Parts: sequence; C-alpha cells; structure tokens
Amino acid sequence: MCGIVGYIGKREACPILIDGLKRLEYRGYDSAGIAVLNCGGIDIRKSIGKLKALECAIEGCAPKGTVGIGHTRWATHGRPSDENAHPHSDCSGQITVVHNGIIENYAELKSRLIAEGHAFASETDTEVAAHLIEQYYDGDLAKAVRSAARELEGSFALVVIARDEPDHIVAARRHSPLVIGLGEGECFLASDVAAFLKHTRRVIYVDDDNIVVVSRGGVGIFDLAGNPIDKEVSLVDWDAAMAERGGYEHFMLKEIHEQPRALRETMRGRLSSELDRVDLPGMNLSDEDIRRINRIVMIACGTAYHASMVGKYAIEELCRIPVEIDVASELRYRNPIIDDQTLAIVISQSGETIDTIVGLREAKEKGAKTLAITNVVGSMAARESDGVLYTYAGPEIAVASTKAYTTQLMVVYLIALYLAQIRGTLDPSRAAQLRAGLWELPGQAELILNDYSEVKRAAERYYCFNGFLYMARGINLASALEGALKIKEIAYIHAEGYAAGEMKHGPIAMIDPTFATIAIAVKSKTYDKILSNIKEVKARSGEVIAIANSHDTVIEDYADRIIRVPETEEILSPVLVAIPLQLMAYYVALGRSPNVDQPRNLAKTVTVE
Ligand code: M6R
Repeated sequence: MCGIVGYIGKREACPILIDGLKRLEYRGYDSAGIAVLNCGGIDIRKSIGKLKALECAIEGCAPKGTVGIGHTRWATHGRPSDENAHPHSDCSGQITVVHNGIIENYAELKSRLIAEGHAFASETDTEVAAHLIEQYYDGDLAKAVRSAARELEGSFALVVIARDEPDHIVAARRHSPLVIGLGEGECFLASDVAAFLKHTRRVIYVDDDNIVVVSRGGVGIFDLAGNPIDKEVSLVDWDAAMAERGGYEHFMLKEIHEQPRALRETMRGRLSSELDRVDLPGMNLSDEDIRRINRIVMIACGTAYHASMVGKYAIEELCRIPVEIDVASELRYRNPIIDDQTLAIVISQSGETIDTIVGLREAKEKGAKTLAITNVVGSMAARESDGVLYTYAGPEIAVASTKAYTTQLMVVYLIALYLAQIRGTLDPSRAAQLRAGLWELPGQAELILNDYSEVKRAAERYYCFNGFLYMARGINLASALEGALKIKEIAYIHAEGYAAGEMKHGPIAMIDPTFATIAIAVKSKTYDKILSNIKEVKARSGEVIAIANSHDTVIEDYADRIIRVPETEEILSPVLVAIPLQLMAYYVALGRSPNVDQPRNLAKTVTVE
C-alpha cells in the first residue's frame, strides 16, 4: 500500500507529481506529501487526509522545480498525521525519501541511529531509511542508498533525492512495486504505471534489490554490489483514458460497466472463434506436464480468493483433479502438501499482494509448477511464476474489485476447460456446451447492464437496513461471499455470505425485519432446496431478494423482490450473478458513504502482511 512517485525532467515537477498521486490514491489516502528540489534546497509540503487537502494547502504557492518525489499514505507505523506523512528527511535536510512497504528491522535501526546522534521527527519506519542513508552519505547518493538497502529488512520501494545532487533521483526496491517511465528528456518513477501513463507508455519494471538512478538523460540500474544491469523496456498497452472515470460518477460504476468488454478481451485468442478448443500457451505447461498434475493448490486473498472458490468447483467438476484453496495469509503459516506434481495457481489483480506472493514462493520452493492469474503486466506474481495468464480487465482503480473478479472467473473456466481437453476428462458435447456458454457471457453481461432499474429500486429500500445475509448453494456460495464482501467494503454494513443449507445451524437466528436476505436462486441442481431456504427465512419475517433467471416464474411466489439475470450453465453463472451484487453494493453505498471508490481503512493493493 502507499503510492510513490518521482519526476525529473524539464517541466515543473509539482503538477506532475500531484497528478500522479491522484492516480495512485487508490493505494492509500491517509495523508499525502511532495518534495521538490529547488535553489539548493528541498521544499517539502505534506498534509493529513486525502490528496485534496495537500492540493488546497499548496494552491497559489506550489513548490517550484523540475525534480521531485511524492507519496500518498496508507498508515502502518504511526497514525495518520502531518508529522507521519511522507516525505521524510534526515537530520541535515540533505536526504529526503518516500517509501512504500514496511521496514521490519526499523526499531533496531532506530535505536542504533538515535545512539549515534540522529534525531527523529516522526513515528514512521520510513524515517529510519532517511537517517540510514544520511549515515552512509559522502556525496554519492546512489552508493549511500545501496549501502542502506543492504541493511534494511522487510519490503520497500524507496525514492530518494539529495539536496546536493539535483540532477538525479535514486530509487531502490525489495518486495514492493516500482516502475520507471521513460519520456523524452524526462523520467518518472511510480508504484504503478497509471501514475505516468498520460506522459509515456515506455516502462522498465524494477526488480528486487535493484538500485535505480534516473536523470533527464536516462536510467542506470545496478545490483546491490553496484554492477550495472541491462533491463528490457516494455510498452504498456493500457492508455491514459482507460484510467479516467469517463463520465461515470465513480470508477467502481465505470468498471462494473466495462465487464462485457473485459470478458471479451480476456477470452480473445484463448477460446477459438470456431468455439472448438481452448488454447492457453501462457500456462507454459506441456501436455505431459498437465497429465502429471495430481493436485492443484489455489492461493489468493479477498475477492481473488472467491475467484479461486469458483476455480476449485470448476476444475474438480470438469477435470477431476483435487483442488485445495487457501487464503494466502493462512497458507504460509501451515505446512501445505505441495510437491512437484502440484500446480499452484495464484490469483491476484495487482500481482503485488504480499501474502499471495509469499504463498507463491512457498509453493515454488516445495517444487510445484506455478501459474499466476493477474491483471498487471510485469507484476511480481507475473514475473515470479512459471506461467502467467493475464486478465485483460484494464486498470482497476476502485478499491472494490469488480471487473478483475469476473475476468478472473473467465480465466479459471478457461483453465478448467483446457486441462479437461488435454486430460480427456470431459465428454466432447458437454465441453462444446460450456465453450458456447462462455462465449455468450459478455453479451449476457451487457443485457444485465442495459437495465438494472430493479437493483436501484431494491437499494433504495434496503440501504438503511442493519445487515445483509447472502445465501447460496454450490458454486454460487462464492458469489454469496463476494456479494457480502462488496457491501461490507463500500457500504460499511454488516453482511455475511452463507451456505444456504447451513442457515438453520445458526445464522437464521439473525433474521428479523431489518435484516435483508439475498438468495442466489439461479437455475441449478439445488434450486428446489434454495426455494425451501427462502421459505424458512420468510417464515421468520425476513425480507428476501432473489437473484433469479429471466424466465423463472416459480420464484415469484417466494421472494419479495426479484433481480433477473440471463440463464446460463450453473457452473458459469457466478459471472452473471456477480454483476447485480456489485451494483447492489454500489447503490446501497451511495446512500451511506461519500467514498465509494476509496472506502475507509482500505487500500487497493495490500503490500504488507
Ligand atoms: O490485488 P489482489 O487481487 O491480490 O487483491 C486481493 C484483495 O486485497 C482484493 O481482492 C480485495 O479483497 C478487494 N478490495 C475486494 O473488493
């Protein structure tokens, strides 16, 4: 979490830094700050609160200069405050840094530095980096950063300027994202390409333990011993407009509406246009490798974990390979059964979630083949896995994940069909039905998005309810959990996702007239059972909103309200069910919170444990 930026060029740095931070605010918004090199000094401005507060504070008196760094914070060490806001400086005002990550040995380093005479002005772990660099500084910033980086433990992307070295910025990275943007006579540094996409699409992804020196004339990249490293320049295929709101009130709504396109893009070139086969060269597995797999482990967090629930169901059903799913933060603290016949699949929109990355590393160490499903080209998950399947969702800015989720589902279906195709586990006519079903999904998503007035009406009624219970069976249990997560996350309403059959084992006690139940009742093997569960809720004065298929008339005798989605194969239905649940969360949240895109206490990319 936290977003960092740097700029060196011929233009005024301040507006470029502020604009870059705006695009990174999804990473944290507890405070913001910038530092600009000018007239032999470093002009630092920072404010608690969102970037807007900083913008107001510098209006009419913005720092002048063509070299600068900036930061938007998600607080870890030290509460949100002006003092704890980045950038942070050393004692002499020579060194100024911004940082994303956690310096785990900061307490030990801080005691040592205090004993050596350094005075600290904040409670942050970051300030330790500034003083440590000061300690090593003898007129060569790159060398001092290199020496400090060797002593730092934990995760960091650091961007550093020195008062006496106005012609470059130095950066370092370990386990936190950092990317360089190459312009004409200018360079950018950022946590995410979105920060500088409007200026350049030519980028270099920085690796762990790289030290970077950027100047107006170009870039030098070195290892921790100071040896130069050659790095490939990549061209980002997102354009700046994709990271704009495009007329929508919030990114979340825009991103919900982008799902038909995102699903098509993700399917393109993988499901043949004749619909006769699936091809996934990105998996980087031979047919023999695929036949050898005897176990799949899926690792993810949050929404991506819900995608892995769908993946488990689909892969076990279609390929008959046992699949274990793990919340990444749990996997790393047990001793999972993983060996060289295991395929470990990590799912992560950002590709930077630290728990997921650690899970990936653990699986690799135990000999598994690894595959990443991610939305971010060049992300850590993509680079560290043996294979990668991208979700072509485009930039997802809202903290609440929407299009990343449904495209993750698209990829797990493609994987299931591909493995089944090679292992011969699926009857050809059934496989053909499923491929045809997949092909239909983007158009069906469009139908939902063409008219969701019933969702808005339901949100108007329920936004002041005390709680929501999402119940489902089978593969849509993942949808229930995802629906509940969405509404908790952006509307701050207590919500639970539950297996409908489990209701009578506890949760049904919560039902009262202020508690709404959303029942996922699309066509399925267990449709009749869900109807009985709805009856049970109704018998206890609960209100029920059913997500049901377009032509289902039976449901009308059961639910208070019905939100319709087109009919598809049960196994594919989570994609369509997700959309009204996202919209419901969005419209309920509109009535309760001004911060739909940036809900309190959260950040889009969780790069700390
Ligand atoms: O970038 P990732 O997919 O690894 O992120 C995982 C979770 O942090 C993320 O899905 C989170 O749960 C979303 N904000 C939910 O909407």
